[in-house]
Amino acid sequence: MFETLKEQPADKILMLMQMYREDPRDTKIDLGVGVYKDATGLTPVMRAVKAAEQKIWEDQNTKVYTGLAGDPAFADAMIELVLGDAVPRDTVAAAATPGGTGAVRQAFEMIQMAKPDARVFVSDPTWPNHLSILKYLGIEVVPYRYFDNETRGVDFDGMMEDLKQAHAGDVILLHGCCHNPTGANLNSTEWDGVIKLLLETGATPMIDIAYQGFGDGLDADAAATRKIAASVPECLIAASCSKNFGIYRERTGLLMAIASDPARHDLNQSTLAFLNRQNYSFPPDHGARIVTTILNDDALKADWMAELEEVRNAMLGLRTQLAEELQRLSGSDRFGFLAQHRGMFSRLGTTPEKVEALRKEHGIYMIGDSRMNIAGLNELTVPILAKAIMDVGV
Ligand code: LMR
Repeated sequence: MFETLKEQPADKILMLMQMYREDPRDTKIDLGVGVYKDATGLTPVMRAVKAAEQKIWEDQNTKVYTGLAGDPAFADAMIELVLGDAVPRDTVAAAATPGGTGAVRQAFEMIQMAKPDARVFVSDPTWPNHLSILKYLGIEVVPYRYFDNETRGVDFDGMMEDLKQAHAGDVILLHGCCHNPTGANLNSTEWDGVIKLLLETGATPMIDIAYQGFGDGLDADAAATRKIAASVPECLIAASCSKNFGIYRERTGLLMAIASDPARHDLNQSTLAFLNRQNYSFPPDHGARIVTTILNDDALKADWMAELEEVRNAMLGLRTQLAEELQRLSGSDRFGFLAQHRGMFSRLGTTPEKVEALRKEHGIYMIGDSRMNIAGLNELTVPILAKAIMDVGV
């Protein structure tokens, strides 16, 4: 039977990871996959994570299954982190998932169960795996304008015009903060406009929040998500702990389904548990336990927040340095957007040919759509990148 299988399209992010590994040049620079790296190129285990793991190792006396939705203490801690007190706790159904991708996948499945003909509106561009999973599940995708290639900011008017086509029973997928792949984000007035549109159209928002704490801070990055959750009757939120806790390989995420009518909670909760059971049964626990341990311990939480701030500020510093270096070399402000973007990524807004030239001639690896992982830089490689950008004529 296997002879009927067809080659599947390669994920462009993972493909680039492989090409980078195989490049023998020792001057190569990896701005591909979204992984934080410190100035030495290491993706460190955060201090609080190490301490929590030690605590777990000492205290844990069983590895028996948790619940189908994971440990409720993990859900409580994450709901608090993402939503604060924006909505009453009894309106939030939640299930632990294998990473943010697991939460996204389960959310799409829940949408499909609830409304088989739902369309999902996605920003153009969006994280490629959103599109890949939607296609795999056979869910109709409607792109909405997002990135303005002239300003390298958000084409807000275009976005709103396209989103007006959505109606009740459709889903609008939004990036809660730190838009992936562009780095261009809405301001708070624009988010208010989106909320108004959601209420007018009756479409259901689904928020993917994978980079909380990487943009303007933990609370600032969650502000739009909280406001949306508090304003609309129903919403889905897929949260990831991969980046802000640096526990990528532990696969730790949470899917939240919020219904302002608490009567819907139990059915939403049992649906999430059912979906977990069908796909992988009990979700992984180790990463979730690390997160819960940190968030429920004042000292560990304070240390984690402090280290996350260091990470965030390091990325902001690199953004400023790159924008300044490019201003110096180009004699223009046209790269100022790099300092305005937030999160791990910025879309340079150049052609695939120039991205290829950067890779071939300079050993600089960014995704073909010109997404750069800012955290792949350090103070010494910023000038090298800036010079290469000028050399290939961006
Ligand atoms: C990315 O966008 O690079 C990350 O979210 C990693 C991934 O799984 O694609």
